[in-house]
Amino acid sequence: MLPPRAVAARSCLIKLLPSICAPRGKLLAHPRALASGARGASMSTSARIDATDTPCIVAMQQMLRGKTDVLSLAQGIVHWPPPAEALSAAQAAVLETTTSLYGADDGLPELRAALKEKVQKENGLVASEIMVTAGANQAYTNLVLSLTDAGDATLLFRPYYFNHLMALQMTGSAREVVLPASTAELQPDMVALRNEFESRAATGLPPLKMVTLVNPGNPTGVMIPHATLEEAKDLCAQYGAWLVVDNTYENFAYKGCTPHKCVEGPHVVNIFSFSKAYGMMGWRVGYLAFPSALGEQLFKTQDTIIICPSTLSQKLALAALREGASFVANQIAALAEQKEVILEALSPLGEGAVQGGSGAIYLFCKLPAGCEDDKEVVRWMVEKHGVCLIPGSACGMPGHVRVCYANLPLERSREAAKRLKAALLELTSGSAQIK
Ligand SMILES: Cc1ncc(COP(=O)(O)O)c(C=O)c1O
Repeated sequence: MLPPRAVAARSCLIKLLPSICAPRGKLLAHPRALASGARGASMSTSARIDATDTPCIVAMQQMLRGKTDVLSLAQGIVHWPPPAEALSAAQAAVLETTTSLYGADDGLPELRAALKEKVQKENGLVASEIMVTAGANQAYTNLVLSLTDAGDATLLFRPYYFNHLMALQMTGSAREVVLPASTAELQPDMVALRNEFESRAATGLPPLKMVTLVNPGNPTGVMIPHATLEEAKDLCAQYGAWLVVDNTYENFAYKGCTPHKCVEGPHVVNIFSFSKAYGMMGWRVGYLAFPSALGEQLFKTQDTIIICPSTLSQKLALAALREGASFVANQIAALAEQKEVILEALSPLGEGAVQGGSGAIYLFCKLPAGCEDDKEVVRWMVEKHGVCLIPGSACGMPGHVRVCYANLPLERSREAAKRLKAALLELTSGSAQIK
């Protein structure tokens, strides 16, 4: 007979494993991870991590290692540093005693207060609570762990942000990830979403537990209209699903294009980030705006994963927020010219092949016929032309590439554009020698 504690532990295992190992539906798990008995006899890694995509950013970093003359339009970063005054404030804060202590799990009270005011005024989120995180990616992972179980179905629109899919795979939090295509304009397809909800209800499939939108989109580079967000919010409410909206690029809205808006509700969580607008990628600060009823559960993931976000980084974030609107607006306005430079370089791809540019920092491009192996195309561009992009297959769209126009300052963007255009002319003329 097993002692009572061991019995409890074993029954817990028995309850969890079947939904990880014997899923059905639209599966995204690695076949090796799913085949029962296929895991190694000993020292195997988890089925969840085996089933997780390899990060395209790491593959890209490995491809670029040791190459000094490659210009990258790949990783989604901006070329500016945080505001000078904020950096000085962080420098001064290094010696403050509180900087070296653990802080409140949900973030420094003064930063949370400032963010609460910001989301009320700028995003119209009047009923949301704030939790500061180590970037938007950690915020999303906290949510996945807090909102979904191993047997659940979740939905991302294709092309998706690769780390969202990876978070769902890695945590084993969703047995099925439904990946409908976006509309021809790269907007989340509300007809497809409604159909998915309805057909699941009609056929007895488990309902969707969580729907994720990225606004404006990565990799699509398009802003989602307010009406679409409202429709997604209403559909999710009707069918009892969480709606998670990643607003990492909220500030990257452009003159003459759809403005950025948020939606709020008892089933809606909004994610934000300091990484891009304030040039704070390496400082790792983001935040969640969530319905207060979720707080207790979110504290569990937060306390277990990071305890609290870096205090020094939060002090910088607070100072950056105070510098605020004009710093961000000036940086983003200056991107218009870079976008034009890169758009011109993409012209060999022809009419209709290049989309995006109405939000975020991306253009999403269809490669010419015969370039379905986008990873090899990108490798060839790096080796032959010294310019790097993200293959669309990392976002569920083979035969495409994602181009970031914010990575490099203007002059370097011009040089990258020259290289990109030369590569595309070779590709479209059919003279490129790609494996
Ligand atoms: C949609 C989206 N969410 C989250 C992130 C990660 O942001 P953070 O640096 O705040 O973790 C990125 C970065 O590229 C992104 O594009």
